Amino acid sequence: MSKSKGFFITFEGPEGAGKSSQVTRLAEYLTSMGRECLITREPGGTGLAEVIRQVVKSHNTAEKVHDATELLLIEAARAQHVREKILPALEEGKVVICDRFSDSTCAYQGGARKMDMSVIDYLNNYASAGRKPDLTFLLDLSPEEGFKRISTREKEGFDRFENEKIDFHRQVRQAFLDNAKAEPQRIIVINAACDRDAIAEKIRQVINDSLF
Ligand code: TMP
Repeated sequence: MSKSKGFFITFEGPEGAGKSSQVTRLAEYLTSMGRECLITREPGGTGLAEVIRQVVKSHNTAEKVHDATELLLIEAARAQHVREKILPALEEGKVVICDRFSDSTCAYQGGARKMDMSVIDYLNNYASAGRKPDLTFLLDLSPEEGFKRISTREKEGFDRFENEKIDFHRQVRQAFLDNAKAEPQRIIVINAACDRDAIAEKIRQVINDSLF
């Protein structure tokens, strides 16, 4: 159980899994049940962290972004976000719903970029001041299906991660699934290829069991 009064929920998943719309729907449901919610996202969530998000996602000059730089930028954004926004909201008793968090670092920087997991674990813990999510929904989808969904956007509209090869995204997906297997109590895997209403209903059922 969490140390603070609030409840910390994260949504994870590969590109095109439909996280944002489920985040909104869950917040609407919780509000209707009388809980105050804070919707936020990573990287980002505060003025400073959103500036870092822009750099991490959209840096496109000839200068290569090294893996270590990418990881440290993401963790810097998280350190700011957790202290400035997430922990205070949890202290106030709110339900915090965050679109991506430290499981994304394990999947993208660990699983796909193959960075040292002991470094990632240390930095995740340091940046988040030791506060882990109480509950995580992993919306699982194949990269092929995910990219079909977001391909309505122009290729030039893709960010640094979306522009990675399909193999990178397969590794991201596998790492998410491996993490879920290691922490089945916290990480609930949901088939994101299902109908959106069915996904929202499944999420509500899990929430009813954990929160009400
Ligand atoms: P999104 O909000 O559109 O999902 O974009 C965020 C991108 O940042 C996404 O491609 C995944 C990536 N990311 C990481 O690589 N590591 C992380 O720790 C987080 C939070 C996001």
